[in-house]
Amino acid sequence: MTPRSIQQLVHALAITEGAGVTVHRTIGTPRLRHLDPFLLLDHFASNDPDDYIAGFPDHPHRGFITLTYMLDGHMEHRDSMGNRGDLRAGGIQWMKAASGVIHSEMPQQTDGLMRGFQLWINLPAGEKMSDPQYQEFSTERLPVVEHHGARVKIISGEYAGQRGPIHDPHTAVQYFDISLPPETAFTQRLDGSATAFVYSFEGSLQIGSTAVETHTLAVLGSGDEIAVSAGPQGARFILLSGRPLREPIVQYGPFVMNTEPEIRQAFDDYQHDRLVKKRARTVSE
Ligand code: CO
Repeated sequence: MTPRSIQQLVHALAITEGAGVTVHRTIGTPRLRHLDPFLLLDHFASNDPDDYIAGFPDHPHRGFITLTYMLDGHMEHRDSMGNRGDLRAGGIQWMKAASGVIHSEMPQQTDGLMRGFQLWINLPAGEKMSDPQYQEFSTERLPVVEHHGARVKIISGEYAGQRGPIHDPHTAVQYFDISLPPETAFTQRLDGSATAFVYSFEGSLQIGSTAVETHTLAVLGSGDEIAVSAGPQGARFILLSGRPLREPIVQYGPFVMNTEPEIRQAFDDYQHDRLVKKRARTVSE
């Protein structure tokens, strides 16, 4: 077994998104444009309604998957496929935007903590113009494994014989939310060919001899195992891995395709109301 060491540390940038929501972004910033197959990682975490109350009114996506994991709070999702989702603490939402979706994500609370992650996963060329799909799972549907003091919540992939509900055939994404008690360690096998990273969001942790601060993403180098040790306050982090697509990426905002003409097409389709192939109904009522 070769443990993976840290290849790059990326501290989150505070960015204003949607109608005025503050997010901590790591993947999708100048220091880390993409981390194939991952295109973007936003962490939202605030007690201040001014940071989130404006939400994300109707906006388009084409060419990839969005995966939202709520830690705390309550959001409502509506999309052009006609889905109306209720996203509550501990739940996840997986949306394959593919050929085109217009959706909104709006807070259903006026105070209190709102916390979670949004991850964008790229689609291979052959899937970018396929039909959109939507899946939503409440916290009860996500397996939790307690092992030597570690608590592992499985969103996608397999840990200790348990499997998360999201199955991704294109990039085989594994997504775990891991809590470690103070001064304990966690090790896990990782596919040697997969891209992998850790994002720390509570306490403190160390990989090899390098400390990873809160709100920092650690890109992992080559190897087939991950070993993380928690500091004196314990640690909570997400561990992600996925098979790289190794295709050209041309991104313009919410559209991620392989070529410039495909991006121009996306804009043209959006401007002429053709982004959504089959519109269920008006998203906002
Ligand atoms: Co969106």
